[in-house]
Amino acid sequence: MTYDLSSTGLLSPANVIAVGVSSLDDIPAELADVFGGSLAEAAGDDKFTAKAGSTWSVRGLDRVPATWLMLVGTGEGSVEDIRLAAGAAGSFARDKGAASLRLSLPGGPAHTVAAVEAVETGNYRFDRYMAEADRKNALEAVALVGLDGTEADIAIGQALASGRNLARDLVNGPAADVYPESLADTAAGLASDRMTVEVWGEDRIETSGMGGITAVGQGSDRKPRFVHMVYEPEGEPTAEVCIVGKGVTFDAGGLSLKPSTGMLTMRCDMGGAAAVVGAMSALESLGIKARVHGIFGAAENMLSGNSYKLGDIITHHNGKTVEVHNTDAEGRLVLADCLSYASNLDGVTHIVDLATLTGAAVVALGDHYTALYANEQEFSDTLRQAATDGGEAYWPMPLEPLYNELIKGTWGEIKNIGGRWGGSITAALFLQNFVGEDKIWSHLDIAGPAFLDKPERHLTKGGTGAGVPGLLAWLRGL
Ligand code: BES
Ligand code: MN
Ligand code: ZN
Repeated sequence: MTYDLSSTGLLSPANVIAVGVSSLDDIPAELADVFGGSLAEAAGDDKFTAKAGSTWSVRGLDRVPATWLMLVGTGEGSVEDIRLAAGAAGSFARDKGAASLRLSLPGGPAHTVAAVEAVETGNYRFDRYMAEADRKNALEAVALVGLDGTEADIAIGQALASGRNLARDLVNGPAADVYPESLADTAAGLASDRMTVEVWGEDRIETSGMGGITAVGQGSDRKPRFVHMVYEPEGEPTAEVCIVGKGVTFDAGGLSLKPSTGMLTMRCDMGGAAAVVGAMSALESLGIKARVHGIFGAAENMLSGNSYKLGDIITHHNGKTVEVHNTDAEGRLVLADCLSYASNLDGVTHIVDLATLTGAAVVALGDHYTALYANEQEFSDTLRQAATDGGEAYWPMPLEPLYNELIKGTWGEIKNIGGRWGGSITAALFLQNFVGEDKIWSHLDIAGPAFLDKPERHLTKGGTGAGVPGLLAWLRGL
């Protein structure tokens, strides 16, 4: 997508002209000249209030040099408001199959970054499996009017969006095409002068003591992978951190088989790994100054004669043993090995893991909020703020040590499920067993926001790239 920052005025040719307005009294003179007062009146009749992200549209006909003219509400004009407005314009262009957009919005550099990120996030479509004739145009050219930003701001917005949209592609891709080996290949494809990517196959995983990834992956004909990426910044790193993802490319539940309805969207169960890959892909363009490790375990949780079984006792990478009480609580077994490995990276001070880990997190918080756990208050606050800055919502949850009783094992040290209640918390406590005591750690349960069953604001249904905005906002601050 190309951007033009230099042109002025609203009424130059484009498929869609989108005009940001803070109220019905804020309609620019250029439009009033064409439509007189009737534009504000018509929008008002349709209950358009200019609330951030709200829209009202009309065909341009011969009045403006565009197929569509839209008003987008900019609310109070905050960065978040501009994000919503630009996202609405981007998704309107997506619905109309528009190739060009002229977008007028107020604001400075931060608004410009958010606007570009949101236009591209809003314009995202996943239609590569559709008939050619049914695929709509993506935006090719965007002219930004009124935003006081630079080419560099545009490049940042584009990098943020492309990282997020890569994660969405990976989540939306069917499990027949996105499986452990192909997911690892996508990560390997990101290797560059600044990025090394190491991929382990099933043998190396097993001999390295990763009993969790081995057990979960063994029921599938698609063999598991373990991936370790390292981004090396230009100059001396300002920090060294690690992001870890759950990469269950399909979760059938294993022997504790899921019902069909619960299984339908379980290609989304690699959403954590997708967020890691998406975020890693953007680091160089963003000029991130920290050394960043990206790690994921990829496995398919399937049902076969070789599936791991209830009552099995798994020995994990750090030597701890776990009793399997439910093979559908597999994500924590995969993450346990990854977290133990990450904890052995000496220079790393902070670890963040992301996982579509529990239905319980969705019950608690719905599909808008990521459940945020952390072993340090300051880090919890940092990530929560980063999420807000990036346009996501994380909600703090308690790592309540009393509940460790619920996951105490009988024959092994820990069991892989707790009781009926607090399922997202007991999953987080389980993971904590595999995090080095010297590491500052956070666990993000993205089971709700990673995959939408219906469109929400400017996000299409399906994969959302949850976690990518918050991670990148955090990393940009290091
Ligand atoms: N991948 C699921 C969690 C999930 C549920 C993700 C809904 C996205 C949407 C996870 O592996 C799982 O099956 N968790 C079980 C745990 C239970 C067996 C303790 C669950 O949440 O029911
Ligand atoms: Mn499961
Ligand atoms: Zn799962």
